[in-house]
Amino acid sequence: MTLTQAEKAAVVAIWSKASTQAEAIGAESLERLFTSYPQAKTYFPHFDLSQGSSQLRAHGSKVLNAVGEAVKHIDDISGALAKLSELHAYILRVDPVNFKLLSHCILCTVAARYPNDFTPEVHAAWDKFLSSISSVLTEKYR
Ligand code: HEM
Repeated sequence: MTLTQAEKAAVVAIWSKASTQAEAIGAESLERLFTSYPQAKTYFPHFDLSQGSSQLRAHGSKVLNAVGEAVKHIDDISGALAKLSELHAYILRVDPVNFKLLSHCILCTVAARYPNDFTPEVHAAWDKFLSSISSVLTEKYR
């Protein structure tokens, strides 16, 4: 899944704002995930998933920082997230359907925070970008 130059530019532009609130966006995305799709909580039995918990915020920050790495290496997302791909495929074995759900929640969070920037084109670009991340994180499953 290749992004056009315009799509890459749209992703980079919103990230320049979102990166300043990575922890809050990550935590809100996870809160949305666990509220709308409670089955996703089964992967985190060892976490306190109550709203605003320190574990939720710390994990949200890690997830969004990984998204940031993908933005930084937008031409080599596969290389940038290789270790995470192995972790999710071989150790965590997260059902790939959950990546679509989390991507949707990240998209909603970004849209809610930057409504004026979130044009249909930016929406489409972020959707494609998050799909690329999900593909990378699920490509090693067998
Ligand atoms: C761990 C990123 C999707 C479940 C992690 C870590 C990162 C990350 C950076 C921490 C790795 C480390 O500590 O070395 C991402 C990204 C995702 C994604 C960028 C997609 C955009 C998912 C999904 C699930 C999931 C959909 C399940 C619903 C987990 C679990 C851990 C983890 C259970 C281990 C948590 C812990 O025990 O600390 N992920 N992840 N991830 N991820 Fe993901």
